[in-house]
Formats: sequence, structure tokens, C-alpha cells
Amino acid sequence: MKALGLVGSYRTGGVNDTIVGKILEGAADRGADTERVFLADRDIRFCRNCRECTQPPGNEPGRCFLDDDVPELINKCISSDILILSSPVNFGSMTAVSKAFLERLVCLAHWPWGKPSPKLRHLPGRRMSVLVTSSAAPSLLTGVGTVNSLTELGKMAEMLHAGVVARLHYGLVALRREAGPKESQKRAAQEFGGCLVDRYHGHLGSNFKLRALQGITQSDLPRLPYVGPIFDRLASIPFKRTE
Ligand SMILES: Cc1cc2nc3c(=O)[nH]c(=O)nc-3n(C[C@H](O)[C@H](O)[C@H](O)COP(=O)(O)O)c2cc1C
Repeated sequence: MKALGLVGSYRTGGVNDTIVGKILEGAADRGADTERVFLADRDIRFCRNCRECTQPPGNEPGRCFLDDDVPELINKCISSDILILSSPVNFGSMTAVSKAFLERLVCLAHWPWGKPSPKLRHLPGRRMSVLVTSSAAPSLLTGVGTVNSLTELGKMAEMLHAGVVARLHYGLVALRREAGPKESQKRAAQEFGGCLVDRYHGHLGSNFKLRALQGITQSDLPRLPYVGPIFDRLASIPFKRTE
């Protein structure tokens, strides 16, 4: 099984890069093949809204006339079982490079002329996804309009036919010049990566390692873990994989 992390930050060694890396490390410890892609290093051109890619029917991703890295990245996503999708919050939304990639995922929809809205193509298989974001604002504000890259990352997951099993928000990350999460958060993220693989293989019941999530999910207020919604998702959403 393969776990792929997409990092939507512009800097290496920051919160998103490090946390995605640690989650992947934990997954690799449990036997997953892992890969981390730094979106800012890739050639991702802007969608021109010609909609040619959305015209052909069927389940194959539509072809874009732009010759860049997006088809390769989409193939990597489709051939993965676990996706870690990450982006910091910049001006209240995901980063520009993440948004550029999201817009290019329009080729995963069929939207012929004359139809008012697109319909998602049926990609082969189904993936688990984890959404990771960070912000200067406290993570308690997740869900409030101004801190909303999780909403957009959710759309990315939907386009890629990936069920979301956890949303991790690291708040208050911009107080220090030094980039990156705390040691405790790194350890927790690594443990969480292992839990994900277990979850994928169906080893985790409702009584899974809640401890692994603490320190990740409400990182700015470690004594008040914001695990409720995430616990609910991991514990109660049945993840079914269609071959
Ligand atoms: C251009 C820019 C805009 C930002 N806008 C916001 C914002 O609207 N809300 C917020 O909470 N933090 C904002 N931040 C802080 C970033 O979210 C924070 O530095 C980032 O999560 C760090 O992630 P990284 O370490 O993975 O790069 C902004 C930072 C930059 C550079």
C-alpha cells in the first residue's frame, strides 16, 4: 500500500512539510511505501478555463493542453491508498500553489457544454485522506470563515475520491522566527501515521490510540485536546475500499 503526502507550503522544514513527513515516517514504519511531493517545486500551471478536459465522457481524467507536471501528480494520487493533503492558511485560504493544483483537478469531472455543473468522474479505487493545515490564528477557530484551508483541502480530497478520516489543524504557529512544529507534535504525528496504516488495514476499532492524536490536533492548547470531531471521524466513519 502507498501513502502520498502533498505539501502545499512554500518552505521546507515548516509545520506542513515536517508534519506530513512525520506522518509518512510513521506509515513507513508500518510497511507503507511513502512519497512526499512539495507542490511548489513542481510545474503546475494555471487552469485556463477552456474546459476541454471536462468534455470527454468516461472515467479517465480529461487531457489538458498544458504540458506540465499535473497529469503525473494526478496519477500519483490515484495510485495511492492514503493521501496526506496539506496547506498553510494564507490570507484565509489555502496557498496559491495548492489552489492552482486544485483548479487543475477539474479534469477529474465531466462537464460538457450545456450542463450547468460538473459531475465527478469515477476514479478507480478509493483512498483515505488526512487534511493538514496550520495558521497564525489558534486552531480553535477552525471552521470560522477566516481560517478555512481545511474546506478547500476537503474539496481536493473529494475530487481525488478520497474519504477524509482526520483533519489536523496546527494553530499559533507563527509566533517564532524558527519554522516547524514542536518535538511532541512531531512524535505524535509519527505515531498517527502508524495508526493510519492500521486503520487502513482495519485493525483499529473504536478504541484506537486516541493518545496519538493528542498534541496534534489542538497543538496550541495541548491540555484541551480538540480531538472530538477527529475521534468521531476516525472511529465511526466506516472506510470501505472498492477494488
Ligand atoms: C502571506 C501570508 C499570509 C498569511 N495569512 C494568514 C491568515 O490569513 N491567517 C492565519 O492564521 N495565518 C496566516 N499566515 C500565517 C501562516 O499560516 C503560517 O505562517 C503557516 O501556517 C506556516 O506554515 P508552514 O510552516 O508550513 O510554512 C500567513 C502567512 C503568510 C506568509
